[in-house]
Amino acid sequence: MITLPKLIGHRGAAARAPENTLVSFEAAADLGLTWIELDLYLTADSNLAVIHDRNLSRTTNGTGDVTKKKTSDLSSLDAGNGQPIPIFKEVIDLCIKRDLGLNIELKDNIGMERETVRVLRNLLEAYWPENLPLPLISSFDTTMLKASKSLLPHLPRGLLLEDIPPNWATTAQKLSCKSIHVNHHKIDESKIRLIREAGYLALAYTVNDPGIAEKLWHWGIDSLFTDLPPAMDRII
Ligand code: G3P
Ligand code: MG
Repeated sequence: MITLPKLIGHRGAAARAPENTLVSFEAAADLGLTWIELDLYLTADSNLAVIHDRNLSRTTNGTGDVTKKKTSDLSSLDAGNGQPIPIFKEVIDLCIKRDLGLNIELKDNIGMERETVRVLRNLLEAYWPENLPLPLISSFDTTMLKASKSLLPHLPRGLLLEDIPPNWATTAQKLSCKSIHVNHHKIDESKIRLIREAGYLALAYTVNDPGIAEKLWHWGIDSLFTDLPPAMDRII
């Protein structure tokens, strides 16, 4: 069974620093969090870029599709406050330095699922240390989770859902998931109970209101993703 903390830093501490940058992950650690979440895309030269959107324009001064860019095209971009887009290896180094657990969200990349997971596997096998918990791999994309199950079978998997569809349990079982991650607007006490009684951890994203966090914990949620705005300080 995997053990998760009550709070996971969403894109690091996205409310305090540019999301998915090294300073954002450092900020989450500085606030006392022990796990962070990040988003990954495969680049054109088979590296892994840490960024949420496929299109570069919202979070960087670049344009276009990150999956069509080489690492060298991305290295000069500003992902906010002069911070670069991290490559995944840099985040592994930071996790080692700050003793952080990691939830890796694999963004959809049709036709490139196995290559994405193969690159991830190579990096984790080479650099992820034994003293840190195994990373939790999650995705909204079931093909990506299927590739993860096939190529990284020993890593725990989380099924990401916007809502809970009728077939959620069949999908989670097929993919041998350990956790179900749901939009917090779409979850309530009975759904949390259903997930937990079926043997999965129940996670909710993205909670930035301490009152909502306390209610979800009271309902039995195992872990919450948060951008860590100052309002959350009292419950960290
Ligand atoms: O993994 C939780 C959350 O990050 C899922 O949604 O869009 O923020 O990546 P998103
Ligand atoms: Mg995410």
